[in-house]
Amino acid sequence: MTETSKTDATADKGNGEVWIVGATGRVGRGVTARLAARGLTVVPVGRSRERMLAAGTDAGLAGNAKVIVADSAEQIAHEIAQKRPRVVVNTMGAFAATAPVIARACMPGGHYVDQANDVAAVQGLLALHDEAVEAGSTLVTGAGFGVLATEAVVAKLCEGRPTPHRVRVDAVASVAIEAGVLGAALAASIVDALTAGGRRYENGQLIASRLGADPQQLIFPDGESAKSAGASSGELLAAYAVSRAPFVTATSALVPTAPLIRALLPPLGRLLSVPALRRLAVDRLGRTTVKATPRPRKHSWGHAVVEWADGTRHEGWLRAGDGMDFTADVTATLTELLARGVGKPGAWTPAAALGADLATTAGGTFVLD
Ligand SMILES: NC(=O)c1ccc[n+]([C@@H]2O[C@H](COP(=O)([O-])OP(=O)(O)OC[C@H]3O[C@@H](n4cnc5c(N)ncnc54)[C@H](OP(=O)(O)O)[C@@H]3O)[C@@H](O)[C@H]2O)c1
Repeated sequence: MTETSKTDATADKGNGEVWIVGATGRVGRGVTARLAARGLTVVPVGRSRERMLAAGTDAGLAGNAKVIVADSAEQIAHEIAQKRPRVVVNTMGAFAATAPVIARACMPGGHYVDQANDVAAVQGLLALHDEAVEAGSTLVTGAGFGVLATEAVVAKLCEGRPTPHRVRVDAVASVAIEAGVLGAALAASIVDALTAGGRRYENGQLIASRLGADPQQLIFPDGESAKSAGASSGELLAAYAVSRAPFVTATSALVPTAPLIRALLPPLGRLLSVPALRRLAVDRLGRTTVKATPRPRKHSWGHAVVEWADGTRHEGWLRAGDGMDFTADVTATLTELLARGVGKPGAWTPAAALGADLATTAGGTFVLD
């Protein structure tokens, strides 16, 4: 755990610095480039100095820029506690484990942002709300296409209206695949989605449901279409929190909809719950080499259908470009706002922290009925 060349004499104080944990990864590189272009003092944090310096140069950082070498959430937390950066962006994944450790180290006074979209991680971060209020820190989870693309639509549809009875959100990211290995962070997210199974809200209670339930054939406002099916996600939690509807479901285009595969999802999830098999699956999947593939559709779409007890129904969409680019845009936009002191203390999902219009500031477009 060491620190390389400092950019100036005040660097040790971390005054005004934005640390990017995982700056060599896909989201981290995108966020680093965006924040560097906006003139923020960006410091990559990760386990390989060489890879961070190379990625930093590509992202527009100086060749001798400061980097922090640390290879676990605990070591990163130690560095944060010593140097007090203003905002820490955590893109290292495994958020259920890493987010509370890193977010706690940001308090008091520092702010925290991650891209978690699984129930355990989002619940874990939101559980720090009272601590964050006390500490004057803003902690934001789900700062990406998932959670914001659907949360923002639900917030817009519920604005100025009574509490609805039922909400469904659908997330359909369109993502170009980079050539190379899939990566452990994404592999872990995929495996964890399988083991977590499904969830939905019924009478205001979060209950287990079948992964792949409630398959949808969605026709987007631009005429393209895609299928999605039920998943447990941070999007589900945020849709409930923002609407307070007693019945909430969430689907995702990442969940297979073919009947045979849907039938296999629950047993596969149970199998991968065995720790040794989970580790093996994450390792194998993470090392899988993938070919560069263009995004399957021009747009990514967040969708919400909100229904009231009197039969009133409103539907809306958030249109974005590539889902990964939108994720980097959301994180960069949010991080810049937090670095500038905009944001209320507490632990939040993105629209709860900074309003639904964060989605348009980050480049999305609402299509509301
Ligand atoms: N909410 C959303 O819409 C959304 C969208 C995209 C991604 N995500 C999530 O965001 C996370 C990042 O995705 P990604 O595609 O950018 O992943 P990635 O390309 O695999 O990047 C992960 C980064 O974390 C670093 N890292 C991993 N383990 C580490 C450790 N022990 N110590 C220090 N650094 C470590 C890696 O560094 P090395 O260079 O050393 O490997 C790499 O820089 C994933 O969990 C993904 O599921 C969410």
